[in-house]
Amino acid sequence: MGMHGHWRRMIGDEDEEYERRSPDRVLIGRLLRYIGRFRRRALMLVLAVLANTAFNLLPPILFMMAIDRYIKNLDALGLTLLGGAFVAVSLVTFAAQFAQRYLINWLGSRMEYDIRMDMFRHLQRLSLRYYARREVGSIISRVTNDVDKISELVTSGLVSVITDIVTLVGIVAIMLWMNARLSLITFTVIPMIVAFMLLWGRRVRAVYRRTRRTIASVSAKIEESVSGMREIQSFSRETATRREFERANISNMEANVEASRIMSAFWPAVNIFSAVGNCLVLWFGGTAVMRGTLTVGVLFGFMSYLNRFFWPIRDLSMFWNNVQSAMAAAERVFGILDTEVEIAEKPDAVELPRIEGEIVYEDLTFGYDPDHPVLRDINLTIKPNTTVALVGPTGAGKTTMINLLYRFYDPQKGRITVDGHDLRDVKLETLRSQMAIVLQDPFLFSGTIKENIRYGNPDASDEEIIAVAKAVGAHEFIQDLPEGYETDVRERGGRLSMGQRQLVSLARALLADPRILIMDEATSSVDAYTELIIKQALEKILRDRTSIVIAHRLSTVRNADLIVVLDEGRIVERGRHEELIKRGGLYSKLYEMQFKYEPAEETEAESVASDAVRDG
Ligand SMILES: Nc1ncnc2c1ncn2[C@@H]1O[C@H](COP(=O)(O)OP(=O)(O)OP(=O)(O)O)[C@@H](O)[C@H]1O
Ligand SMILES: [Mg+2]
Repeated sequence: MGMHGHWRRMIGDEDEEYERRSPDRVLIGRLLRYIGRFRRRALMLVLAVLANTAFNLLPPILFMMAIDRYIKNLDALGLTLLGGAFVAVSLVTFAAQFAQRYLINWLGSRMEYDIRMDMFRHLQRLSLRYYARREVGSIISRVTNDVDKISELVTSGLVSVITDIVTLVGIVAIMLWMNARLSLITFTVIPMIVAFMLLWGRRVRAVYRRTRRTIASVSAKIEESVSGMREIQSFSRETATRREFERANISNMEANVEASRIMSAFWPAVNIFSAVGNCLVLWFGGTAVMRGTLTVGVLFGFMSYLNRFFWPIRDLSMFWNNVQSAMAAAERVFGILDTEVEIAEKPDAVELPRIEGEIVYEDLTFGYDPDHPVLRDINLTIKPNTTVALVGPTGAGKTTMINLLYRFYDPQKGRITVDGHDLRDVKLETLRSQMAIVLQDPFLFSGTIKENIRYGNPDASDEEIIAVAKAVGAHEFIQDLPEGYETDVRERGGRLSMGQRQLVSLARALLADPRILIMDEATSSVDAYTELIIKQALEKILRDRTSIVIAHRLSTVRNADLIVVLDEGRIVERGRHEELIKRGGLYSKLYEMQFKYEPAEETEAESVASDAVRDG
């Protein structure tokens, strides 16, 4: 825990903050817009529901007619015809019900699809800063669990709510038509029910919000533990991790139990109102029948409708609860969709043509947290088609320089230009597509090696793929794999060693044939022999493009056209290798230190590699 735990809690609070913002009206309006896209189907659905409801309301009237008109007058033929009508009605109902169920499920599935697509699209535009502050699992939970919850509301709830409202209106009309006095007596329970629902609803909403949040935290914990299983097992942290998971899981269970406790009071309460209504009708209606002012048939019909009157009310209160739960989910979904895109392109952003590759950092100051700059007053010009090395101690800000060049973040002060264009004025895709990066811990997607190399240039032929693999010295190990280039590297490239992943990623970058090539500790995990093969290959590859190389092993950057030394966010030295060594500053110290400890290995490997290259 410690700092980390505190950080997490801050994130949680921030999320909570959001959830209090949107009123139901707004959320429901936004959700309905997803259905509104399919007007024709929605209209057909409403028609089916109306037909269905109308037919459902018929039977008690038929029964009433049977009792008062046919049974009372001993009319057997009429009774038979009426029975036939009853069956006919049920057949028509079948068709309407089929249409209703099918259409609502179609709309629900489609809505789920649309919301997920919208979320995914938006997630792709959010800045890395957003991701640095969120738990992956919590985001996943929003895209899966919460969207599920919403579509469930639509599929199970929407039809019943229309049915219920139409039924209620229909029944109220029929009851009034049958006997106005008795109806008005019955309706006195309605205000009681409404008041009860409003009061209870607030608590239901609060408790459902807790269920949504706790299930998200369960997902987050699972995600983190699964990704970090190796660390967990190797540090024997299973018990502690399990406890942490247990805590999240218990919170979720408690929230669910609490939700069902509150819900459990709901239904029986509606039953009480229904009993009161029945009691009123029995008493007033019954005495009216005794006095002869009401027929038995009407009393029977009235009682039947009365019970049907309470079904939709019970249903609606159930629906109300689902709405509460779904609204809590909707807030979380819209929380993502409403997150402002921090790195947004200007509407008049220019498309970069093929760039020369001149990069200028001007008076640049930047901090991930604006109050704590990690880069200060950076001024650096990188000429086209040159190779610049960024070196310096851990945490100096080297990777941050690259993050800014990709415009993953915007600087607080100053700017970066590429070929004279401020990064904030260009279409990002036209810039990024001309850059390629190789990282220390490259991310490979599940799929074959071939697919992963092709990632940077989807049109490349197999021959080109093999050529770049050969150029970076990856061909050899790939061929030794059981299925060669068709080997599935599995999620995140888990099947390959770190060095192998670096080689694949290097091949991927070269295949993209970028104008700007960036290598951030790209060869830190390959052996010295392979590194030298790469180095010799790179001399050719780096020549006709702008390259930025970050490396702790200074032997790999010795030939750079310009070496820039960063320390605590500032450029402290710059120049060519020989100049910097002569100057005797930070660079020469770092360099000396390395060679004191590993000179022998270096020279030996170098000669072996040169031999290998000469032979091959
Ligand atoms: N996403 C982030 N959020 C907040 N601070 C960050 C983030 N990434 C890096 N930092 C901080 O910025 C500073 C510079 O980090 P950077 O990654 O640029 O260092 P580096 O020079 O690449 O180090 P290394 O040689 O270890 O890769 C560090 O102090 C680090 O703690
Ligand atoms: Mg770094």
